[in-house]
Amino acid sequence: MNIILLAPPAAGKGTQSALLENYYQLCHISTGDLLRDALKQDTEEAKELKEIMAQGKLVSDEMILKLIENTLTTSNLKNGYILDGFPRTLKQAIDYDNLLKKMNQKIDYVLCLDIDKEILKKRIVGRLLCKNCGAIYNEYFEVSRPKEEGICDKCGFSLIKREDDNEESFENRYDLYLKETYPLIEYYQSKGNLYHVPFADTPNQVFEEIKSIIGDKHD
Ligand code: AP5
Repeated sequence: MNIILLAPPAAGKGTQSALLENYYQLCHISTGDLLRDALKQDTEEAKELKEIMAQGKLVSDEMILKLIENTLTTSNLKNGYILDGFPRTLKQAIDYDNLLKKMNQKIDYVLCLDIDKEILKKRIVGRLLCKNCGAIYNEYFEVSRPKEEGICDKCGFSLIKREDDNEESFENRYDLYLKETYPLIEYYQSKGNLYHVPFADTPNQVFEEIKSIIGDKHD
């Protein structure tokens, strides 16, 4: 089973990916995480990438396609995967369709997480991440707060903030979402595999909505 999570910044793509990964035994592929890994290298390209991401701009389609193609052709994805943050432009969606055809694969569900901009802003500013295991928390929402301030519940490492988690970068990311990514809703709607996931207060409630679309565990 292959899934695309289509949603604005901080809508909960990473949070729902972790739940989907665990419940359906799928592989989580986040282009944001892949890029953040690439930033750790000491190269000119990494410096340029860091600047682009900190400002909330989009990385080139060519680079993203290369990352995706490499991941899809070299990873063990036998149960399927969740795409978090890809595709994000019409060109990415069309090139990805061509890649799927070449690999004789298909997308089963495109899940669009519905949410208001004002809630997204709060989520961005309050987000905390574990620098060791990548678990996601939020200091503003009781349901997503770590038990001990600044410490990951799962592995005990310290929590950090992402460099692009500020209001200015959020505004850029949100505008780009409307311009470049929002049109993909129509693109997938016309293919007949788009499902809207209504807003809910807690990650588990959102996940229940997703389960009601996908159904119980597939064999
Ligand atoms: P990326 O890492 O993909 O960032 P994003 O799309 O902006 O999404 P986020 O990771 O910010 O949010 P999310 O939806 O995963 O939300 P989360 O689960 O953390 O991309 C970063 C950058 O990389 C881009 O700006 C771009 O430069 C580049 N890039 C990546 N992909 C690209 C592509 N394909 N093409 C070009 N460039 C690309 O949740 C957010 C917060 O809310 C958390 O604190 C969480 O605890 C909390 N939360 C979640 N759900 C709930 C809930 N139901 N109730 C209460 N709190 C909740």
